[in-house]
Amino acid sequence: MTTGNWWAAALRESVNGEKPLAVVCNGEALALFRNAAGELCALEDRCPHRRVPLALGTVTPKGLQCGYHGWTFNGATGMCTTIPNLREDERVPSRYGARAYRVAESGGFVHVWLGEGSPADSPLPGADYQPHGSEFSGTAVVNTAHDEYLAAMLDGPECLLEFGSVRITDFFLGDPRMEAGRLVVDRGAVWKTQMLPPAFVVDHPLIVRTAVPLEGGTIRVELLDADEAPLVTLCIAASANRRGTTSLCWRGFRHDTRVAGAPLRWLIARRRARAPFRIHPMIDGAALAALLVAPSRDLAAARAARRAPLSEAA
Ligand code: FES
Repeated sequence: MTTGNWWAAALRESVNGEKPLAVVCNGEALALFRNAAGELCALEDRCPHRRVPLALGTVTPKGLQCGYHGWTFNGATGMCTTIPNLREDERVPSRYGARAYRVAESGGFVHVWLGEGSPADSPLPGADYQPHGSEFSGTAVVNTAHDEYLAAMLDGPECLLEFGSVRITDFFLGDPRMEAGRLVVDRGAVWKTQMLPPAFVVDHPLIVRTAVPLEGGTIRVELLDADEAPLVTLCIAASANRRGTTSLCWRGFRHDTRVAGAPLRWLIARRRARAPFRIHPMIDGAALAALLVAPSRDLAAARAARRAPLSEAA
């Protein structure tokens, strides 16, 4: 299931040194926490002793202590450091340990390396997200499989999210294109106050740009004006959870850009610093099923092309 890539597994502020955070990222159950030095740590969320979730345990100065029999694991190496009730002459066997993952922080996300090999040459996905002003964030587990979530983000993002006062249309502005490991699609959008039905609006005053990663990474969604000045930027980390569901965590912010023709509701929301977007925590299955498969075909083709040389080499 791993792709050899960085995955954004949690929001930075959700991971602390008091209570471990349980997440499922790309199908892997993880316990995230900060050790006594404040460093981020990620361990497999399964005690090697009796398979109890480590996230039910406690963060101690020596590491993460399992809540069942009290074994303690070093957050950086996964090595078991303490077993209660050992005799004075007994030592913790060096083979006792939990799986530890490489972990790094970028763009307000906690990233975990879930693949084989070294991540030295792989940039962190959150690096191109640089917020300013008020930020809005959240998490959810949505009732859709990860691949379907990515496909819907390209074929019909209005099923998954909304920008206040904005109607996303199905009018594509150009062909899908690859940019920095993401498939990018532009589609026209209009203010909801516009009287003309979107199907007849030739000159779209707004653009919704969705950029979906081929592997790992984060989805980037932008609301732009007609000159491509950014109004809202949104970074969504999506990965496979269990039983056909998808883990999400996101951050986004409103730019200072002034836009002509914005309705009163948009201006009031801006003045009151309300979130300019909403991620749907529940997805309408009927709306999803009705989407035409369009740009997501390009995503599938780009993924197949990327994997082909690897399989040929094997
Ligand atoms: S199950 Fe974790 S210490 Fe026993």
